[in-house]
Amino acid sequence: MAILKIARMGHPVLLTPAEPAGPAAESELHRLVRDMVDTLADAGGVGLAAPQVHVSRRVIIFLVPPERARGEGEGAPQRGAVPLTAVLDPEIEPLGDETALDWEGCLSIPGLRGLVPRWSRIRLRGRSLDDTPLDIEAEGFHARVIQHEVDHLDGILYPMRMNDLSRLAYNEEWHRYMAPAEPQE
Ligand code: NI
Repeated sequence: MAILKIARMGHPVLLTPAEPAGPAAESELHRLVRDMVDTLADAGGVGLAAPQVHVSRRVIIFLVPPERARGEGEGAPQRGAVPLTAVLDPEIEPLGDETALDWEGCLSIPGLRGLVPRWSRIRLRGRSLDDTPLDIEAEGFHARVIQHEVDHLDGILYPMRMNDLSRLAYNEEWHRYMAPAEPQE
């Protein structure tokens, strides 16, 4: 088990397009993914891209925990939780032109969150760690976390996707002034 150091905004590795993942059989790649899983569990996030641990290769991991398995927007229906998934060389295609705004944070930008527009539904293609082709459709939070992680492979951080920087906040102030009201009983 190894917990890797997470690069923070300002480090050039986060602004550099990543190289292809390489052969899935490579033991180094398996170790990288195991270490990314340990690092994500330790940091308590929902996704991680290899450049965030200073490895400029096209590898992401993500999950949708049960408490986030909800569509976006007030009253949105509950959707399924997604177990931890590793994807090599992910590629995204939007399905339809609908977008949604929701709050995101990033382990490379600790303490902050921002309101980010994303495609509501996407198709994700790539390879799993055993070299099986992956082809899945995702929506809501699931689609959001995938778009966030794939952006890391292209040197893009979520503030670069924001269209209103007044919606960028420290977590404490967000909870005090910007958090959506608790749903009424
Ligand atoms: Ni991130």
